[in-house]
Amino acid sequence: TQVKNQLIDIFASMGFEIFEGAEIETDYYNFTALNTPQDHPARDMQDTFYLSPEFLLRTQTSAGQIHVMEKKQPPIKILSPGKVFRSDSDATHSPMFSQMEGLVVDQHITLCDLQGMLDQFVKALFSDEVKTRLRPSYFPFTEPSVEVDVSCHVCGGKGCSVCKGTGWIEILGAGMVHPNVLRMAGFDPEKCSGFAFGVGMERVAMLKYGIRDIRDFYTNDVRFLKTFSRFE
Ligand code: PHE
Repeated sequence: TQVKNQLIDIFASMGFEIFEGAEIETDYYNFTALNTPQDHPARDMQDTFYLSPEFLLRTQTSAGQIHVMEKKQPPIKILSPGKVFRSDSDATHSPMFSQMEGLVVDQHITLCDLQGMLDQFVKALFSDEVKTRLRPSYFPFTEPSVEVDVSCHVCGGKGCSVCKGTGWIEILGAGMVHPNVLRMAGFDPEKCSGFAFGVGMERVAMLKYGIRDIRDFYTNDVRFLKTFSRFE
């Protein structure tokens, strides 16, 4: 909750508005409208809990992107925090976790706008010395897609156990909204463009506070919770 509030504060100060989507979604909003039709191999990236052939537990807050674009006209600048669900469970994956989606759509939005905003974001989150790096990646609903790394806030980029000796830590996925997604939402990709990003909130909290097991967030061990209590 503390990390979520901090993320909201940072993005709200940049002019983002909050949109809360639903945890139960249709296949259309979670996948098809995000350029991931039935039988697309990228559906395999997220092991999905289906409630019926039509309904599912959303696997990503990206499902909210289309709802927002159906309701609003550009300029759009939305932040969407919430729970997401995937059939996955180990020390760094939980069947339920939290993401924060960002979506910006307007005229002449470029990848530089995305990186500039992310730079601001990681400086506010960690410290002024932290830098970002974009690596090419793949998501069906963004083109180009990037994986965003931050320089290690523990060793300053020299290499340590937190960054596994590389000096960089992966923090989120992002990219330019795919023209098919804009079209699917009723926008003309010749007239507007946008970027989107999705950050795992537990992941941010784990990096910030050196938490090694994601399951610690949900087991309600008072000793763990007290470490973060501001009301002691
Ligand atoms: N939805 C993607 C995921 O959960 C993250 C993402 C969001 C990527 C927005 C690009 C743009 O893996």
